[in-house]
Amino acid sequence: MGLAKHLTGTVKIHFNTMAQTIIITGGAGFIGSHVVRLFVTRYPEYRIINLDALTYAGNLENLRDIDQLPNYHFEKVNILDTAALEMVFSKWNPDGVIHLAAESHVDRSINSPLDFVYTNVIGTVNLLNTAKHHWKNNLEGKRFYHVSTDEVYGALGDTGFFTEETRYDPHSPYSASKAASDHFVRAYHDTYQLPVVISNCSNNYGPNHFPEKLIPLFINNVITGKPLPVYGDGLYTRDWLFVKDHATAIDKVFHEGKTGATYNIGGFNEWKNIDLVKLLCRLMDEKLARDTGSSEKLITYVKDRPGHDRRYAIDATKINRELGWKPSVTFEEGLSLTIDWYLQNTEWLTHVTSGEYQQYYDRQYHK
Ligand code: NAD
Ligand code: DAU
Repeated sequence: MGLAKHLTGTVKIHFNTMAQTIIITGGAGFIGSHVVRLFVTRYPEYRIINLDALTYAGNLENLRDIDQLPNYHFEKVNILDTAALEMVFSKWNPDGVIHLAAESHVDRSINSPLDFVYTNVIGTVNLLNTAKHHWKNNLEGKRFYHVSTDEVYGALGDTGFFTEETRYDPHSPYSASKAASDHFVRAYHDTYQLPVVISNCSNNYGPNHFPEKLIPLFINNVITGKPLPVYGDGLYTRDWLFVKDHATAIDKVFHEGKTGATYNIGGFNEWKNIDLVKLLCRLMDEKLARDTGSSEKLITYVKDRPGHDRRYAIDATKINRELGWKPSVTFEEGLSLTIDWYLQNTEWLTHVTSGEYQQYYDRQYHK
């Protein structure tokens, strides 16, 4: 184990270059499915175990193209089920965990905060306990990677960035639950020497994004001619990163990140919501061969999200300097690829917008 490698002028030690078994939680979700695909295809000698409860947000259709590969395995397990976690760890004997399973939508957290406490806090502690118990005799070569969010840092004013040293200041039940889970992960490192690493990423977008979040919701509503519900004054700012770039960052952090460290991940790509929505409308008019301006007519200002964070912006200098990671696509390229994906995958969109989605949509937008 251990391979010296030159990267951006400094010597990097690979965490583990031997074949290994990795449990990826939340692998059927948006980001998780891109991480699973990257690891399964880039590391054919690894065994990749996708552990997912398949909630409304989990969808095995996201992995159809790789689910027959011999190094891919699926376990339908809820991280609240400690006995099932023990069984999966005993069965596969993992060297690493990449933990993405979570309740992830801020608006849902405002309506059902306890669901977020259960999965994001208690589920994460269950996973930490299982890894700690399973690895108790030998921590060598083991790694527990917790995937978190920039929302734990709260909200910025017009200037400045979130760095790894920014004080936690969460405002929504979602971000509070992610902040709590981050604290538990660090506590298990400091108290039990569990070899953890954490990353905090900005807003992702791309294929397979569930259409409750801004970009896929608005793409779907443009396609179906429904209103585009912009919260408040539309001047809230987010820092957008293409999901495949987040996946390559996770690969870097998992293999080369320092144990106990935190890495902020972002694209230095800030957009006010209304500017982003107008760009999306323009691209969609072109792609759907509709009259210029027809999608923009769907924009409707609606009641603001309670506790809405004004601005997020990540300083991603550390991961660039220490691990040599940077995004591979511009926002315009990534957004265009994303819209194309949704236009080509109408069956996927139809499946995920049937059933529970309609009830959620009515609750959220027709109250
Ligand atoms: P998602 O909602 O698309 O997927 C979550 C996945 O977790 C689903 O497959 C779901 O079935 C699974 N899951 C939920 N509860 C579970 C449970 N109790 N047991 C087992 N599996 C369960 O989420 P996402 O957007 O892909 O986010 C993945 C992770 O990345 C989350 O931890 C989120 O906080 C973090 N993150 C997301 C973003 C973003 O912009 N989407 C940005 C930064 C960090
Ligand atoms: O910053 C990282 C976070 O990004 C992740 O941790 C979360 O899991 C992810 O959901 C995302 O949170 P946001 O709340 O920023 O994303 P969302 O797509 O819900 O909203 C983006 C912005 O768009 C936000 O300012 C709210 C606004 N919005 C959203 C929706 C769904 C609207 O104006 N109208 C809408 O209908």
